[in-house]
Amino acid sequence: MLTKKIIIANWKMNLSLAETVGLTKKFKEKFAGFNQGEVVICPANLALSQAAKILKGSQLKLGAQNVFWEDKGMYTGEISADMLVEAGCQYVIIGHSERRKYLFENYEMIHKKVRAVLETAKLTPIVCIGETIEEKESDRRDFVLVEQLQQALSGIDVFGNQQIIVAYEPVWAIGTGTAIEPSEAEYAHKIIRLALNDMFGMRIISQNFKIIYGGSINSKNVKKFAALENMDGLLVGGVGLKVDDFSKVVKSIINLPAGRPVKN
Ligand code: 13P
Repeated sequence: MLTKKIIIANWKMNLSLAETVGLTKKFKEKFAGFNQGEVVICPANLALSQAAKILKGSQLKLGAQNVFWEDKGMYTGEISADMLVEAGCQYVIIGHSERRKYLFENYEMIHKKVRAVLETAKLTPIVCIGETIEEKESDRRDFVLVEQLQQALSGIDVFGNQQIIVAYEPVWAIGTGTAIEPSEAEYAHKIIRLALNDMFGMRIISQNFKIIYGGSINSKNVKKFAALENMDGLLVGGVGLKVDDFSKVVKSIINLPAGRPVKN
């Protein structure tokens, strides 16, 4: 059973290189010696190598926000799983709804990315799923979640200690300031767990998978999520850009008193 909770900060396209360097240093300082949970930062590709250098000797882990499915070749603008490993990444976000919306990433692309990442055996994919407001309002959420899981993960073999993280991010809750009701998240996570159980079996799910929530988490509403049974962690956007607030989120999730403040 994987017990440590994971909290992932997706910095999206919010920070310049200089700002990323500054914030990474603050994170490193804030989380010095922290090992009660796993904290991951996901800066833009531009800043990955520098962030990796800063994070040397710290418990914090590095992730990327996207990956391409081929190893190398004529794929202008793309980056491979091996390149991310070389840059110092241990995690990579796949199929974020912003990429599905603005870059037209579809099921097939997401599936190929998951496969490519698992082939390296050195990266943990963070596979994002979640319904849109139209799907929610037409009562199709459960179907959509199962469909997205099947499209992303069907036919995939999971070996050894390979981890896979499924991030449930209801599209309509991202960046709005209003997270969904924790009970709704718990229900959705149960649906996800049941669907994964069907696909891989319970042993693999408890050993190799984590299910986390993302969408407008902040230092106040996080407390209600902390006690949920089927929640292995969080994927955060906005709150991940403020080290003190982010630290409160982390401490809430793993039930520790908040640490000393660091200036933003
Ligand atoms: P917010 O926490 O800003 O809603 O973003 C969530 C998200 O998209 C993380 O990937």
